[in-house]
Amino acid sequence: MPIWIPPIIAFFLGSIPFGLLIAKSQGINIREHGSGNIGATNVLRVVGKKFGITCFVLDFIKGLIPALIGISLIQYFGQSLSMTIHALSGLATTLPEDQRATAQTLQLITGLCAILGHNYSPWVGFKGGKGIATSAGVFCAFAPFAIPILILVWCAFFFTTRYVSVASITASAALPLTVLWGSWYHGKIANGTWNKPLFFFSLFIGAMAIWKHRSNIQKLLNGTENRFTPKKKS
Ligand code: G3P
Repeated sequence: MPIWIPPIIAFFLGSIPFGLLIAKSQGINIREHGSGNIGATNVLRVVGKKFGITCFVLDFIKGLIPALIGISLIQYFGQSLSMTIHALSGLATTLPEDQRATAQTLQLITGLCAILGHNYSPWVGFKGGKGIATSAGVFCAFAPFAIPILILVWCAFFFTTRYVSVASITASAALPLTVLWGSWYHGKIANGTWNKPLFFFSLFIGAMAIWKHRSNIQKLLNGTENRFTPKKKS
């Protein structure tokens, strides 16, 4: 398989605007309601809980699948599955350095393309979503250890503020720090084997997610951001 195919597949998978399609199936143009975003939060807000959850799962999967395809690129370089897993955690020191670097670059480009596909989907005039669910899918494959920590951060900020955007922005800021912490925890920073490309990738994805939330930040500053309040029991 030519090595440029996985990034292309990733971009087109990522570009599927599930939120828009789910809302459309209910006769709603999601662009004209709530925050106008095509993400799971707005689908949940406007269309309903089960539709929002479905949207989250589909957006997550369209990040996870390309990232797993990206990981299989290591196989393309003739490595075994265990080598793939080791390479993923930055331990594949027995791979020739040039092959390891190329394989990892291709993995990260494939993951990046899935997120870019979602955030700048050509099917919605390059004005896609904010990338939280799709990035979660990508990092579930690339840095699974980070996911429980980021879920905790997200939940802590959501349940204290009731703003999804605050939780998402904080989790995005925590992403590169968590990846860095993972390397430090496993002693890889001390011995110089830490996964620098993964760290810079996480820094870029976190920054892009925060950038995509700039309208939310503006609304938070204006005091007009949507807040999720628990439904009162009747
Ligand atoms: O992941 C998106 C979320 O953080 C904010 O969504 O619809 O309130 O802009 P929304």
